[in-house]
Amino acid sequence: MPKKTVADIDVEGKRVLLRVDFNVPLNVNSGAISDDSRIRASLPTIKYLVDHKAKVIICSHSGRPGGRVVDNLRMAPAAQRLSQLVGLPVSTVSDCIGQEVESKVGTLQEGDILVLENLRFHPEEEANDPDFARKLARLADIYVDDAFSTAHRVHASIVGVAKYLPAVAGFLMNKELNVMEKLLHNPERPWGCLIGGAKGSDKIDLLQNMLRRVDMLLVGGGMTATFLKTQGYETGHSLVEDDKLDLAKKLLQEAEEWKVPFLLPVDAVVAQEIKAGASIRVVPTTDIPAGSHIVDIGPKSIVLFHNELRKCRTIMWNGPMGIYEMPQFAQGTRAIASFLSTLDATTIIGGGSSAEVVQEMGLADKMTHVSTGGGASLKFLEGATLPGVEVLLDTK
Ligand code: 3PG
Repeated sequence: MPKKTVADIDVEGKRVLLRVDFNVPLNVNSGAISDDSRIRASLPTIKYLVDHKAKVIICSHSGRPGGRVVDNLRMAPAAQRLSQLVGLPVSTVSDCIGQEVESKVGTLQEGDILVLENLRFHPEEEANDPDFARKLARLADIYVDDAFSTAHRVHASIVGVAKYLPAVAGFLMNKELNVMEKLLHNPERPWGCLIGGAKGSDKIDLLQNMLRRVDMLLVGGGMTATFLKTQGYETGHSLVEDDKLDLAKKLLQEAEEWKVPFLLPVDAVVAQEIKAGASIRVVPTTDIPAGSHIVDIGPKSIVLFHNELRKCRTIMWNGPMGIYEMPQFAQGTRAIASFLSTLDATTIIGGGSSAEVVQEMGLADKMTHVSTGGGASLKFLEGATLPGVEVLLDTK
């Protein structure tokens, strides 16, 4: 059911609680923001609210502080970056609920922007505590959710608060939902899905759901080992999810029955140790040496994947092809990103690590859509209803 957006309601003079996802990667040494794309992605909603004279109260989480104050997870760096990007002053407060925050909100003028402190400094946020949600809601007249990437979480600022305020989608939320809906229900065909990532457990449900919808399914990354093992091949020291072997086998059988091409890497880069400078070699995936780790897809697999993906009019990619954080093992992942950027097809990057790679390589503008939500887009594509979306007002 389509959801109301911020453009469907009157925000002039209203206090608007805007949930964003400013959970941005920070440089471990300097604490500086290393990728501000999530902040940029919410700018259309923030600018709209400012232009339409709302009092904008922004809330977000950062990291996983576990319900206590962690100094290097404060919202100040994100607020500063927002101020630079939007070209306006942005004020902050030392908490997200309570007297000081309420007083500060009381001083806001139309068009002012205030960023609240990290929601997850309170354990009540992740517990979806009703009292905490009420305290947040008390700050505002309207709730706008622009944090698609957290819509799979049942937290107070995502689900709880919508009980007390009229709740609508921001423009980023709306865009992400439209892209994902089209992908699930009306993609231009042929459409292919390339899934990688460290391990399969969080993706195997996605593969199952995708198998019924796509014209081809390609799997790379850490999941490869589980699929190889299920076919009786040696996987060395690569992580195999033994509890998923039956499921992996069933998926391969179903793909065959339904005549959906299910492609696995034909060769792999293997290393004896996962460390910088490790000696590596390329071997067929049917011949992984005992004692080695699969760290990337090999050159033949890159060509195979390129050739198959070239046939598609729509491609969704989620998850790296290897241990891409180490440059030596990143070639497969980078080759996929570069290749997708050259295609005249709908290319959707499903958030998380693949989005990071695409951003880092400066290729985001060459893709149709780079999702801000890794976990959320996976849940959506698994066919699940996202709790943070469910609570928003329907258009009808
Ligand atoms: C993300 O980075 O995927 C979102 O910010 C959600 O973060 P979480 O997985 O800690 O809930």
